Amino acid sequence: MQIVHTIADLRAALAGKGHPAFVPTMGNLHDGHLSLVRLARQHGDVTVASIFVNRLQFLPHEDFDSYPRTWDADCAKLEAEGCDILFAPRELDLYPEPQTFKVQPDAALADILEGHFRPGFFTGVCTVVMKLFQAVFATNGGGVAVFGQKDYQQLMVIRRMVRQFALPIEIMAAPTARAGSGLALSSRNGYLSDEQRVQAMALSQALKTLADASLQGGNLAELEAQAMADLRAQGWEPDYLTVRQRSDLQTPEKAQAGQLVALGAARIGGTRLIDNLEF
Ligand code: PAF
Repeated sequence: MQIVHTIADLRAALAGKGHPAFVPTMGNLHDGHLSLVRLARQHGDVTVASIFVNRLQFLPHEDFDSYPRTWDADCAKLEAEGCDILFAPRELDLYPEPQTFKVQPDAALADILEGHFRPGFFTGVCTVVMKLFQAVFATNGGGVAVFGQKDYQQLMVIRRMVRQFALPIEIMAAPTARAGSGLALSSRNGYLSDEQRVQAMALSQALKTLADASLQGGNLAELEAQAMADLRAQGWEPDYLTVRQRSDLQTPEKAQAGQLVALGAARIGGTRLIDNLEF
């Protein structure tokens, strides 16, 4: 695996190699990330992963400084998965000057749910992803980029960005990788104690219970409030547990199976986890 740090070196490494399949990450790789790399390998001429902890998508009180950085282990995992190129820009390689131009996503999609609780998050994500896409695809005429379905809203925002800017990139979604308990794999699971890791499976269970209840009818807002109260009673601090339309993440007028997704974000101890369930 070739490791490059600058955009110029990345483009040189990609010259003449065909269409890349790209997996952007912030490192601290787990099996979920590696499943994205596996999918990418089937859909491109050359597989590229990036590791970059993007300051622009963290709020001042969030975990940018303490975000787990596990460089040696990450390189070994990518190498073992057969990744061809690792792009690992330093902050000044990607942001040599303050990034005053930003990609401002559609408020209707990006200022709700995660964007409501993490204002500016999707502007930070879209700005860095646009920049990474320029680095990876601009000289190779486009390709494929793979994102995990665990970050459901992020996936939708990126898809809409790619469509509206007519980028020559196909966005592929990889299913959420889970531990045996049902807990969605996440870099932030590393913050959990053993006891919290057991408790953490309650989030995916709460989404399943909410999804089932919503299909049986009843007032959706009341069912969501009940789901939040149940989770709170188990020691969580939920930001939201909600049922939305898959098409635009707005509240459905009527719960119809096959068109919905239950999404949740909640803190256990100091750790904020997210998950979702299509139904
Ligand atoms: O999902 C992530 O890890 C990040 O949001 C991404 C897409 C790598 C952008 O920093």
